[in-house]
Order: sequence, then structure tokens, then C-alpha cells
Amino acid sequence: MPSRCARDGANSYQHLRLRLSIVPPWQDEIAEQGVLPRSNTLILEPVGKAFGAEVAEVDLRDLTKELLGAVREAFSQYAVLVFPDQDLSQEDQAKFAAYFGPLEAAPSAIYQDDARQRMQRDITDVSNIDDDGQLWRPDSRVRQLQVANKLWHTDSSFKHVPALASCLYARVVPPVGGHTAFADLRGAYDALPTDRQAYLKPLIARHTLMASRRRMGFDDFTADEAKAMQAVPQRLVRFLEDAGRETLYLASHIEGIDGMDADAAMHLVDELIAHATQPVFIYRHRWRVGDLVLWDNRCTMHRATPFDDMRWGRDLHRATVSDVANTV
Ligand code: OGA
Ligand code: MN
Repeated sequence: MPSRCARDGANSYQHLRLRLSIVPPWQDEIAEQGVLPRSNTLILEPVGKAFGAEVAEVDLRDLTKELLGAVREAFSQYAVLVFPDQDLSQEDQAKFAAYFGPLEAAPSAIYQDDARQRMQRDITDVSNIDDDGQLWRPDSRVRQLQVANKLWHTDSSFKHVPALASCLYARVVPPVGGHTAFADLRGAYDALPTDRQAYLKPLIARHTLMASRRRMGFDDFTADEAKAMQAVPQRLVRFLEDAGRETLYLASHIEGIDGMDADAAMHLVDELIAHATQPVFIYRHRWRVGDLVLWDNRCTMHRATPFDDMRWGRDLHRATVSDVANTV
């Protein structure tokens, strides 16, 4: 048996290296001589059947215009980009994320019981550590709400204008477990028979944060919260202009589909999530301290894998970029 690496499906691409560079015309000559400044070249190592890529030797605090152009171009092809070895303040992280669009405010409102001030407003605390540096108590409300990150989802699909991208940065990681798995929803769409694609295309799903929390058995919302979390419509199939590709748009936040009875709708959603999360569509990211992972929420789902969260700390920070409009 060949040994399996932690990154599902990466095997056949392990030795493929792509260089993607945006070179101003006057630099052609330099490029031919092989002394192109490193700052204008991205070194990409595809992962997860090439729907994601690791990016080498980039300091995200110090991007040239050309390099940023190359990152954007890479990002329309690779829905998950991994930047190892970063050293970012919350401000640096927010600044990098803001290159892709306006940032969402962190959802502190729903965490009101144990709201923590560790974070600046546009950075979401994805950790099991409170503001005194202690691990969460088992009964913490934050803990109960974040348990739903273990379900397949895409960020903020429950908002009228959903998230375009998320950018998660690792400060403390557990020695084992606590990975993040990603599913390729463009690949999953392409793999469906054409008549199935045609059936799904016109469908409109209803997303609410309460749907995923309820799936995990948490139903303790105040009336104000319930009002703030009313379901929003999103297309089940989206076309991404920048990539020129269609994609499924799925999440455990879906509570129904317009024009379908509730059981049939949830049956369809569960079936599509099962289809899209087959091993062939998955990249599982094992975190190293200093990794920044940027993903496209329009065409991927993700979920946290378990770890012993009463034993080890895990401290990740997320900046979330808004899309420009509702998908309907
Ligand atoms: C998120 C999220 C998963 C994880 O930050 O949006 O879902 O592995 N995180 O922490
Ligand atoms: Mn998430």
C-alpha cells in the first residue's frame, strides 16, 4: 500500500509545480534571463485534486500590485489558497482580506453572553480560548454555537448578501485533530448528469443560521435573535463570472427550497451535500501555526474536524469578505 498523506487526493499532483506570473511588459527581458524579482511570481503547489493550492514564499504584509494581481488570478482558479509561514497582526490580516472586498463585522451579537474583546471588529474569534486565555467551559454558549462549524457549510450564506471569501489564520493549533476540510462545489456540480444539473438550476434555497444550529440540537434563541436570523433566499446553482464556471451553492444552513415540501427539500439537500463531500471532492487542511487559508465561499463548503478541545487550545482568527449582492 502506498502511504497516504494527510491531504486527501493530493497524491497525483504532488510533483506538479505551476508558476503563475503577471509580468509588466518591460520586465519580459529580465524574466527571460531568469532573474525576475521573486516578488512578481507566485509558486503554486496544487492540492486536493487541484481545486486548491499552496503558495510558497509570499509575505502577505508586503504584496506588490503585480503579486496581488497574481493572487487574484490564482484565486479564481483555485478555490482554496494556503499561505504558510505568515506573521500577521489582526490589522495585517484584515488589510489582506479587504483586497477582495468589504469585510463583514464579526458576529459578536450572537455571542453576547460571553462576548470577548480580544478581537478587532472585523475579525471573528474561531477559538476555544476566552479572554483570560483559558479554555472554554463546557457550558459556554460560544462553545455550543461553534459546534455547528463541524457541519458542512459555507460562511454567511444565511445573510442576504453572503460571504465571498474567508481568510482564516492559525495562531495556536492542537497537536492532533482540529483540521479544516474543504469540499469542491464546482467539481461536484460538473460531476452531476446534465439532466440533474438542469433540474437544480432554477431552484432557490432558504438559508438561516438557525437551521445549522438546530441540526446540532441547539435551539435556545431569543426572540430578537430569531428575528435577526430570518431565512434568506439563495440560488442552489450559481454561475461565477470570474472563473466562467457553474457551482453548487450548498450549506447546512439551508432549511428549505421554494416550491418543495420540507421533507423532499431536506432530502434533496442532504443528498447533494453527500454527493459533494465524497473523498474525490475533498481537501483536508492540517494546520500549522502561521498558515493563512483563503477560501472562496461561493464554490466550496468547509467544516472543522474534531479535536480534544478540553485538553488543547486552538486559536484561529477569521476575516470574512462580503459578496456584492444576493444570489437571486
Ligand atoms: C470558520 C470555520 C472551521 C474550523 O471559521 O468559518 O468554519 O476548522 N472554521 O475552525
Ligand atoms: Mn465557517
